[in-house]
Amino acid sequence: MNLQRDRSAWLQGPESVCQTPPVHPAQCRRFVLLGAPGVGKGTQAALLSAAFGACHLSTGDIFRAARTSDGRAISPAMQAAVERMRRGELVSDETVLQIVRERLGCLTCRGGFLLDGFPRTVPQAAALDGLLERENAMIEAVISYDLAEDEIITRIGGRRTCPVCNAVYHLTAHPPRVPGVCDGCDSALVQREDDRPEAIHIRQQAYLTSTAPLLAYYQEQRLLRHVPAHGTPEEVFARTLTALAAAA
Ligand code: AP5
Repeated sequence: MNLQRDRSAWLQGPESVCQTPPVHPAQCRRFVLLGAPGVGKGTQAALLSAAFGACHLSTGDIFRAARTSDGRAISPAMQAAVERMRRGELVSDETVLQIVRERLGCLTCRGGFLLDGFPRTVPQAAALDGLLERENAMIEAVISYDLAEDEIITRIGGRRTCPVCNAVYHLTAHPPRVPGVCDGCDSALVQREDDRPEAIHIRQQAYLTSTAPLLAYYQEQRLLRHVPAHGTPEEVFARTLTALAAAA
């Protein structure tokens, strides 16, 4: 399978309709991706999405899409969320959960999901469990990507993103065909505002304080799989498939 899923309903909200048909329910896969900022979750989500057809559901992408939306009104809550993201702080659980509840259809979609950046706190994980339980939908596995901090800093420092289609590149590890230009939509690539050194530090602290406790939460549910994130994206992807096969 090599399917690029339409994420309109996730990025723009439930009033938008996705054009990609969901895969057969028997193939529906549902995973959560965990790991420190910049470890490579989004990169692996894109590979997993192409392999399984599951939709890449990133809460960070929702906030970035809101910020770059031309002409569309942004609610005060979303405006506050975007400002917190810019500083590297976590968005409040209340705002994140409201946004996810509005997109419940994406969690129950027969295409399955790859949650990236959500849940990020134990209250968010508990709320997700409640939502999925009511819908009779199960998380198959939670993958935690592990990488040394200096390698993470190198990855974040070289990251460039497309503000239009959200594609992610790296200056040396995954450069675009034409420097500074998105392969997919020809837009000019940018460096994320929260990839500035002062924001990176705040994000790493937020990960250690608020997100790392999720490892114990999912370990207790016997869903957690650790995957070393060193090496090329393809090597990490191969390790991920091995970890998922072991989980099945
Ligand atoms: P979010 O967008 O989720 O950011 P993040 O978790 O900080 O993760 P990143 O997107 O920075 O990194 P990644 O792990 O996806 O790495 P990538 O694949 O890009 O959240 C942003 C903000 O939104 C948060 O700080 C917060 O403010 C807010 N937010 C979002 N969700 C929230 C929630 N639930 N609750 C509260 N607040 C929330 O890779 C990084 C770079 O490395 C790229 O350049 C890539 O090309 C390169 N790379 C990847 N893999 C490899 C490899 N194997 N080898 C070499 N280079 C690689």
